[in-house]
Amino acid sequence: MSNAWFRHDRFGMFVHWGLYALPARHEWVKNRERMTDEQYARYFEHFDPDLYDPREWARSARNAGMRYVVLTTKHHDGFCLWDSALTDYKVTNTPYGRDLLQPFVDACRAEGLNVGFYHSLIDWHHPSFPVDGLHPQRDDENYKAQAAGRDLAEYREYLHGQVRELLTGFGQIDYLFFDFSYAGRSHTWGGKGAEEWGAAELLAMVRELQPDILVNDRTGLPGDFVTPEQYQPAGPMAGPDGPIAWEACQTLNGSWGYDRDNFDYKTPDLLIRMLIDGVSKDGNLLLNVGPNGRGRIDPSAEATLAAIGEWMRLHERSIRGCGASAFVAPPDCRYTQAGDRLYLHLLSWPFKHVHLPGLAGRVGYAQLLSDASEIQLVEPDPSRLHENTQPGGQPPGTLTLQLPVRRPEVAVPVIELFLTPSA
Ligand code: GLC
Repeated sequence: MSNAWFRHDRFGMFVHWGLYALPARHEWVKNRERMTDEQYARYFEHFDPDLYDPREWARSARNAGMRYVVLTTKHHDGFCLWDSALTDYKVTNTPYGRDLLQPFVDACRAEGLNVGFYHSLIDWHHPSFPVDGLHPQRDDENYKAQAAGRDLAEYREYLHGQVRELLTGFGQIDYLFFDFSYAGRSHTWGGKGAEEWGAAELLAMVRELQPDILVNDRTGLPGDFVTPEQYQPAGPMAGPDGPIAWEACQTLNGSWGYDRDNFDYKTPDLLIRMLIDGVSKDGNLLLNVGPNGRGRIDPSAEATLAAIGEWMRLHERSIRGCGASAFVAPPDCRYTQAGDRLYLHLLSWPFKHVHLPGLAGRVGYAQLLSDASEIQLVEPDPSRLHENTQPGGQPPGTLTLQLPVRRPEVAVPVIELFLTPSA
């Protein structure tokens, strides 16, 4: 399979949506509050997202500059967003009563977006899923005694059967995010991983059903890309066989599901920097929204997406189709590169000059990306030293750019450098 679209597009939308949108206090609420199935049932009984319009989601994603969307088909709570033949625990049995997935897929396609599914390997509802240290009933001795004989093989069959449904019932699926493996982790007990999920078989089936799909690395076996979560890698990522495609998944406020009272929002500026930072290290950004119980992306998330979109409209060229550069960026800057275009992202705006090591004689033209205004080049003069009114003393090979005093009014200014072939 080729990951060309994935490496090219660079920016996608993650959507965490399910019953947990109703309690509106994090998608792990069932675990955190140790809720029983009976207690959690109230959300199933009241799930009725009357404002669900995936075309709005897809348009918001598109306008933000995203080119693929990944939706939770099932999260750890086990609730299914499609009309699965393998369970009753699905949207068609809620008051809403209709499949949510096909309209989502159609909406993405209509906006020219690639389609991804997130699917939880963990299941806190399935009667054959063995209780472990992450299960909501992990401390309930009666429950655990009753659950002692659970047959993991039954759950495995269910898991594989549902993945088969997802990959045969909705046309081409471009991307799959399994979540997650925790075998042998020290912070919990009863952890599960590749063996428990039957990951080798599962992945073989996925590739057979959707030969072009990209699969993540969380089944416990290597996948097509790795998934740093809620942190920014320090540089390009590598697997056992060398450099590997990666995608950081990031939240707006630390929660994936709708979390009404959580205002720990990242600013659009910060998110734009994170996008740039990732591409400068050859990675993607999958930025999450958690629509609410009526199916809407809440206004503050929409405002953030719009602000990112405003920046992307002017600076798409420095993100899309770009990756890491072999040149080393000066302090407070990030480079991205596509062929002979080198993009200098200025995370802070210096006064009048920025010095670019190794670029003397390598740049034919430079402009501000936001308005295509020329940026003048000062080629180095080795004999020139600092004098009263002029800078100097840069190491040989340094190219200096002359900047306007006034910083362009965009979240992060970008200078586009047209490289000339090295002599
Ligand atoms: C984690 C969490 C989860 C979230 C996911 C996104 O593994 O369990 O709630 O869906 O990461 O990457």
